[in-house]
Amino acid sequence: MQPASKANQCITRISAHLHPPNFQMEESSGLRHVNCQAKDAAPGFKVAILGAAGGIGQPLVMLMNINLLVSVLRLYDVVNTPGVTADISHMDTGAVVRGFLGQQQLEEALVGMDLVIIPAGVPRKPGMTRDDLFNINTGILRTLCEAIVKSCPKAIVNLISNPVNSTVPTAAEVFKRAGTYDPKRLLGVTTLDVVRANTIVAEVLGLDPREVDVPVVGGHAGVMILPLLSQVKPPCSFTPQEIEYLISRIQNGGTEVVEAKAGAGSATLSMVIPCFGL
Ligand SMILES: NC(=O)c1ccc[n+]([C@@H]2O[C@H](COP(=O)([O-])OP(=O)(O)OC[C@H]3O[C@@H](n4cnc5c(N)ncnc54)[C@H](O)[C@@H]3O)[C@@H](O)[C@H]2O)c1
Repeated sequence: MQPASKANQCITRISAHLHPPNFQMEESSGLRHVNCQAKDAAPGFKVAILGAAGGIGQPLVMLMNINLLVSVLRLYDVVNTPGVTADISHMDTGAVVRGFLGQQQLEEALVGMDLVIIPAGVPRKPGMTRDDLFNINTGILRTLCEAIVKSCPKAIVNLISNPVNSTVPTAAEVFKRAGTYDPKRLLGVTTLDVVRANTIVAEVLGLDPREVDVPVVGGHAGVMILPLLSQVKPPCSFTPQEIEYLISRIQNGGTEVVEAKAGAGSATLSMVIPCFGL
């Protein structure tokens, strides 16, 4: 190839990231919807992140891009995907990264995906409960799930957007109505409660959190978060005061972060552990 045409190709690629209208052009000219492979031609999972430009979305995208199991990474948001895509695509990893901006590109972003992870929506502000997000986030989610039905009905769907207690049944209803519901493929991400429980219990026991395992059952909101302190590994016992302290800290871990980070950006960075484990 002539140096000039090579340079032109580079410029086209870069401008595809920087100018949203060209976004889809890059996708349709370079990347086929089926049989996508990593840059070294290895097969892998095709993953879409909806809400990719947000506080959870951006670190999640970064972690997915270094995950060796991922061959194709699609970033979708209603704002800022060009910048995040340009940035992430500079990482010298195997995954093919593409960005999609705005609802008109939603279905295209989802075609052929194996896994869809959804942190799209609004987060809590100090004084809000997860329930306060219900109307906005379930509305957003319904649109996203209807596009999943059309573009990748067999994908595994991981819901991060709160209130997870309600976003999961909302998504289930959309999929049931479309006849595509599979309970094994729809998951609410609540691992952060386990991560917090392990850390807080380890603090009380004076142990390394990596050696502590606290099962947590129930839902993902306040008193519905139920740490099973009698089942902690390694086996241990707590005084009634310790139990009261532990349950309160674990159930209010999210609120602790939202209030402490008021005005400092909303992202829950400890989500990095559940995200990496996905
Ligand atoms: N499950 C958990 O453990 C857990 C932990 C922390 C936060 N959360 C939840 O995750 C969600 C995201 O939190 P955040 O801190 O990243 O918020 P954020 O505001 O930083 O990011 C949300 C992103 O969603 C995008 N978005 C909004 N409407 C959209 C739409 N219609 N389609 C696609 N994208 C859209 C926004 O543009 C933004 O980029 C919140 O609902 C929050 O409560 C869940």
